[in-house]
Parts: sequence; C-alpha cells; structure tokens
Amino acid sequence: MAKITIIKSDIVYDCVSDTITRAATRAGLGFPYECNVGECGNCRFELIEGEVSYLRENPPAITERDAERKRYLGCQAVPHGDCTIKVPLRDHYKSKHLPKKTRGVLTEAIDITHDIREFRFKLSEPAKFLAGQYGLISAPGVEGARAYSMSNTGETGEEWHFQIRRVPNGRATGSLFDGMKIGDSLDLDGPYGMAYLREDAPRDILCLGGGSGLSPMVSISRAAAHSAALAGQNIYFVYGGRTPRDICGEEFLRELPGFGERIHYTPVISMVDDPTSAGWTGKTGFVHDVAEEMFGEKLANFEVYFAGPPLMAQSVTKMLIKAKVPGSQMHFDQFY
Ligand SMILES: Cc1cc2nc3c(=O)[nH]c(=O)nc-3n(C[C@H](O)[C@H](O)[C@H](O)COP(=O)(O)OP(=O)(O)OC[C@H]3O[C@@H](n4cnc5c(N)ncnc54)[C@H](O)[C@@H]3O)c2cc1C
Ligand code: FES
Repeated sequence: MAKITIIKSDIVYDCVSDTITRAATRAGLGFPYECNVGECGNCRFELIEGEVSYLRENPPAITERDAERKRYLGCQAVPHGDCTIKVPLRDHYKSKHLPKKTRGVLTEAIDITHDIREFRFKLSEPAKFLAGQYGLISAPGVEGARAYSMSNTGETGEEWHFQIRRVPNGRATGSLFDGMKIGDSLDLDGPYGMAYLREDAPRDILCLGGGSGLSPMVSISRAAAHSAALAGQNIYFVYGGRTPRDICGEEFLRELPGFGERIHYTPVISMVDDPTSAGWTGKTGFVHDVAEEMFGEKLANFEVYFAGPPLMAQSVTKMLIKAKVPGSQMHFDQFY
C-alpha cells in the first residue's frame, strides 16, 4: 500500500493496487479526470516526490513537455511506494457513489443492431451509479480496461447493462462480442464520469446520441422519465446513424411512461445516398444540425446530454456554444 500526500493540503490517501486518480476517487476526493484511459489529459498531476509507472505504455495524452516537468496522468499512474503530488482538487469531480472493483457475470447478450449489442452483467457486489455514468470493463485477454456507459439505471446497482458498438478490429469489443458466453465473468470497476442526469435542473432535456453513444442517452432518458423532480419536463431524444440499419433507441423509449406525450424520439441518418437508405422518410444530416434546426434559439432553455464518436461530440459542442447554451447545461464525457 502507498500513501499519497497532496502538497499544500492536509490530505493523505491510501492507494492499494490502484492508479493515483482512481484511488483518490474511491477515497471521496475530487481528483479531476474524464476518460480514465489515458486519452484526455484531464487527470494530469505533478509528481513532487516518489516514483510511479504507467499501466498503459506511452498514454496518448502525455507530451514531452509533461515528461520534462514531471507531470503524469493520474488515471494511468501506479505508485511505487509513498508519493507527494500536486493537483488542484475540485468538488465537481467528487463521486456520489464511490467506485468499486467487482466481478460481473454475463447473464444476457441481446443484439440491438447489426453492430450494437447489449451486455447484461450481474455484479458480485452491488455498485450503485447515476444515470449517464460509465464503468471500466476488463475484457478477457485484452490489456487495459475500456470505458463503457451503462444503459440501465443504477438505484440498486445489482446489474450493469452496457450497449456496446463493435469496432472493426477492436480488441476489447472483439473479445466481448466473440469471446464472452452467458455465465462468463470479468472485472468491472466504477462508476465513473460526470455526465450524469441533473435531477435538480428544472429544464426540458435534450439527449443527442450517435453510434456508440446510445447507452448513456438511454440511461438518462430512463431515469428522467421516472424522476419525480423532472415530472413536468419534456425529453427529446435525437439519435443519428449512417444508414437506416444503424438506427435504434426508440424501442427503449416506448417502454417509458409518457412516450409520445412528453418523451419524443427523432432518428437521423447521414448517408442519404447509400443504396440501403432508399425509402428513408425521416430526418437526414448530422445530429447537431438536426438539433439546431429543431430547436434553434430554444436550445439555451435545455439541459443537454450528448454522447458519441469524438467528431460528433465536437460538432455538438460547437453548435451549442453558437446557440449560447451555458457550459453548465452541457453534459458529456468524451468517448475515445
Ligand atoms: C467515457 C467513455 C464512455 C464510453 N462509452 C461507450 C459506450 O457506451 N458504448 C461503446 O460502444 N463505446 C463506448 N466507449 C468507447 C470504448 O471505450 C472503446 O474505445 C471502444 O469500444 C473501442 O475499444 P476496442 O478495444 O474494441 O478498440 P481498439 O481500437 O482496440 O482500442 C481503442 C480504445 O482502447 C483504448 N486503449 C488502447 N490501449 C489501451 C490500454 N492499454 N489501456 C487502456 N485503454 C487502452 C484507447 O484509448 C481507445 O479508447 C466509451 C469511451 C469512453 C472514454
Ligand atoms: S487521461 Fe486520465 S482521465 Fe483522461
């Protein structure tokens, strides 16, 4: 076990077979982070004393300048003995439900589209989560845990469901789609993430999802539909795919009370010229353009949640800034 001291504070926490950031989050501290896989750089800290090594060799978010200045990525750094670090803690990053390491047994695997499958795991020990949060899955035989958002709601935390899009030649998705059988188990860790449902925000909700971004938007919609605090609010769900065979999500919203009254679903396809798109009568284009066309200046009145491939998230962010949506009303964890 290592003791981690945060300089210029009276904070010391334990780190047992863990990374510097995840141990801090488990201890209830507001250590900044976002992706947990070494891609975003939000978890940078300065090492004042001690020694660390990386879980993931050469994590992408670290630069030469970081290395020169003894700056490390906390989500990938494992201490070798006691360390003293410098990091600006923020309450925003404190987790309501402290992350736990558990085992998950696969109880069901259900195909949603040609490349999205829902994996349902029963946990060895319940781990509650907020709608929109994610867990880390250690796929069998794959180095490094991957982040996947839960699609169910986490009041009991007994089961975690994930809607996962298969990535061509992807290592973790390949292992999950081709290797996991009902009854198999794997390591889970979480919950993590800040893009959770804000039940104290009395605004209509806009969920924008594309491709792999289905799962957290389904979770947010499910929790919002059943939230007493949000009973008077509308929920708009816009989901984009390339062609009609990528379109999904409506089946989960239809099960919710208020579908068609206060819960609305709009599918969008982007590859209109593809032969398989012939006959499509719905919206076309990109999710951010369709949301702008649908809501225009009213966007600033929404609490906006979004998830999907990095390009989509960047386009949505730009569009929302242009529409003067305050940053405090935008919620997303960048996918990598
Ligand atoms: C916060 C968050 C939530 C996400 N939620 C979902 C979701 O709900 N559904 C979904 O389908 N996808 C989701 N993703 C994407 C998912 O985590 C994977 O990136 C994707 O499935 C591709 O993984 P792969 O191993 O199959 O592909 P590969 O191409 O083999 O791997 C690419 C991914 O693995 C990471 N990686 C590579 N090596 C390592 C390593 N040694 N240690 C740790 N990470 C490594 C990369 O950073 C990259 O994210 C999410 C990503 C993030 C960051
Ligand atoms: S790089 Fe560590 S949280 Fe993203």
